[in-house]
Amino acid sequence: MNRTEILRRKDISHFWHPYTDINSLERREFPVIEKAEGVYLVDTEGHRLLDGISSWWCVNLGHSHPDIIDAIRKQSGRLQNSITGGMSHTEVIRLSERIATISPEGLTRVYYASDGACSVEAAMRISLQYWWNLGKPEKRKMISLSGGYHGDTLGCVGLGYISRFHKSVEHAVKRSITAESPHCFHCRYHRKPENCGLECFASMEKAITENSGSTAAVIAEPVCQGAGGMRIYPPEYTARLRKLCDENDVLLILDEIAVGFGRTGKMFASELAGIVPDMMCIGKGLTGGSLPMSAVVASEAVYDAFRSDSRTDRTFYHGHTFCGNPIAAAAAYAAIDVYERDNVLGNVEMLSEMLSEAFGKYRGIPGVYGSTALGCMSALEISEESGGAGKAFEIADTAHGKGLFIRPLGSVLYLWPPLVTTKKEMEIMLQIFEDSLIENLLTTPRLKRVTL
Ligand SMILES: Cc1ncc(COP(=O)(O)O)c(C=O)c1O
Repeated sequence: MNRTEILRRKDISHFWHPYTDINSLERREFPVIEKAEGVYLVDTEGHRLLDGISSWWCVNLGHSHPDIIDAIRKQSGRLQNSITGGMSHTEVIRLSERIATISPEGLTRVYYASDGACSVEAAMRISLQYWWNLGKPEKRKMISLSGGYHGDTLGCVGLGYISRFHKSVEHAVKRSITAESPHCFHCRYHRKPENCGLECFASMEKAITENSGSTAAVIAEPVCQGAGGMRIYPPEYTARLRKLCDENDVLLILDEIAVGFGRTGKMFASELAGIVPDMMCIGKGLTGGSLPMSAVVASEAVYDAFRSDSRTDRTFYHGHTFCGNPIAAAAAYAAIDVYERDNVLGNVEMLSEMLSEAFGKYRGIPGVYGSTALGCMSALEISEESGGAGKAFEIADTAHGKGLFIRPLGSVLYLWPPLVTTKKEMEIMLQIFEDSLIENLLTTPRLKRVTL
């Protein structure tokens, strides 16, 4: 047995993998990654694997970025952790100022957590307590979009309920009111981008207007519902949502955990809609995907509602041991430097053109039901008649064999490469992606090859 086989055996003896079917894992020769650099993951055999999904959409700046490593190394020699309840430390102070500077205007108060789900939990609790503090405890409902995903803690599952993932715990979850998903791949109104009148928004309008007196907040992933199937939808939806929340005295929380930090071509997706939410959840790309850190960035108005006076205690009694951890804060500060200094958004513009062109062409491959791309996000769906989710997994396996790591979401295959991917690297990823589609979808010899 070689080293990799020994490691795999130890792995399946003790490591409980997230989102992984145990039986199929035990049958597969899954990669064991030992190091990573740039857009490449390197396994224990020395194989280099292009990271086509930025390791769950977070390694925006590529793996092992030297500036982030340097910041982590220096900070870990100075201060590894220090309580932030009632006192502070230098790293969290300078990072908070920096986040306030880069966030949409008016979002100035930063509350830290560790994973994305924890920041959504915090945002939900802030919105509930906000109304309680203002003397309106009856505003306690949440509204979200069907097909949304906000994390896997029970509170988050109530907001972003995906039946395939969450039905076993439905009984333990308090579900939000859900409005219809802006699901352009399967538009119920048979609209195309050219004639879309956002007909699906009527459902959100109904949910908010009928429940405004009892609703604390609406939460949505702006521009793209990620885990729900990479459903990219028009920014205009979010602009209308802002207006409707204002008119009905309901807070708006935008979950930018996946799309924030440049993924859409803007630093934050809300900029595409030209609006500012009351709270924004960030995570993943905040540290360039290097260390767990997430945050809720809130407006002054929200923060002010938490000031106590001589009669009422309005403190936010919610926190995590590692809130604002100094090492993660140093990594985040270094990452923001890189986003700004290296014109990462400029690179996304280049990648965006390449992805749009390629995914536009893939739509012509028999078996591809539809495709979509925006910024550094691109996805296509394999039709049910062509094998749906099963076929998508086969395509991903083929891509893996050719050196590209992708991981489908059901029947949806997507490419979300690091935002610093070069033109050449993108060309290689697209070539492998295309070859894997063709090999698996065009099986009759006559159709073996199409020009894309
Ligand atoms: C939009 C969105 N919100 C929240 C989360 C949860 O983040 P985490 O996995 O860090 O808890 C995710 C994770 O993919 C996400 O995509």
